[in-house]
Amino acid sequence: MSSGTGGSYWADKALPSVFKHELLKRYLPQFGGMTSRQSHDKRVIYLDGYAGEGRYENGEPASAEIALRVASHHHARHGLTLECFFSEAQQKSFDRLQKVVQHYQACGVLAHAHRGEVDGLLDAVVQRAVGEPLFLFLDPCGLVLPQDRLVDVLARKRPQKRPATELLMNFSMMAVWRLGGHVRSEKGNERTLQRFDEVCGGAWWREYFADAAASRDKEGAAEDAIEAVAAEYARRLARRTGMLVQSVPVSHSPRKRAVYRLVFATRSQYGLWVFGDTVARARDEWWKTLEMREE
Ligand SMILES: C[S@@+](CC[C@H](N)C(=O)[O-])C[C@H]1O[C@@H](n2cnc3c(N)ncnc32)[C@H](O)[C@@H]1O
Repeated sequence: MSSGTGGSYWADKALPSVFKHELLKRYLPQFGGMTSRQSHDKRVIYLDGYAGEGRYENGEPASAEIALRVASHHHARHGLTLECFFSEAQQKSFDRLQKVVQHYQACGVLAHAHRGEVDGLLDAVVQRAVGEPLFLFLDPCGLVLPQDRLVDVLARKRPQKRPATELLMNFSMMAVWRLGGHVRSEKGNERTLQRFDEVCGGAWWREYFADAAASRDKEGAAEDAIEAVAAEYARRLARRTGMLVQSVPVSHSPRKRAVYRLVFATRSQYGLWVFGDTVARARDEWWKTLEMREE
């Protein structure tokens, strides 16, 4: 299963990314503001684990530059350090990302770009965040880290309420759709299915598609199965980490099914409330952009 960005991904921003970035742009400063007092040196640690290029070819900021701008603003206005870590596996994307990061480093932002897989950086970031609030943003094109790995960080290494730990991650509905096809086909690739077993923390998800295969309305049943798998994934993450988990659908248009869900996890009721408010504002911007593009 592809894990890189191809074609015109970085030419300019697609509608799902409009929503994702509006959410990040609004929520990250709030997380910094809400949690910086939990740190002895007003430092908050941020990881963008699948960072991409940092900026679109048309000059618009992508996730990395959004965080760097928040860090720069927080530093100048509130004396707060948002220490940013970025990992990117593809050399070409990394080279572009590094240029963006270097620009902000030169302006005094504490940021680190790592060429390689997020799995290789995660433990070092968690170590760096001992005694500090930590925000993890995991936004792959395909499959995210195994749930056991997330549970190890969230429940074993960061079980406490303070300093805060939060997660925002992309759960690809397109990937689940394709994988559901593998379950239903006799020629389904077992290695691909096992990789998704790891993401889900077990093979439980396969049963949803086996049921769909037995249904008369296969297409409709498969759509229901995708939604059910995403909901069960969130429930399991909540149960295994003891966190409050919410997920929101992200799509190209109101008439199309979600390409992914953004899964948010926190231990703070207030964080959940602020997140909900931010989702509503981001959705508003998404509608405005949709209308503008349709015109
Ligand atoms: C959806 S794009 C990231 C978009 C970016 N977060 C944004 O919103 O602007 C996913 C990126 O993750 C990279 N990638 C894929 N697998 C990775 C891994 N295991 N570790 C780090 N980066 C990875 C891809 O090369 C791609 O650039």
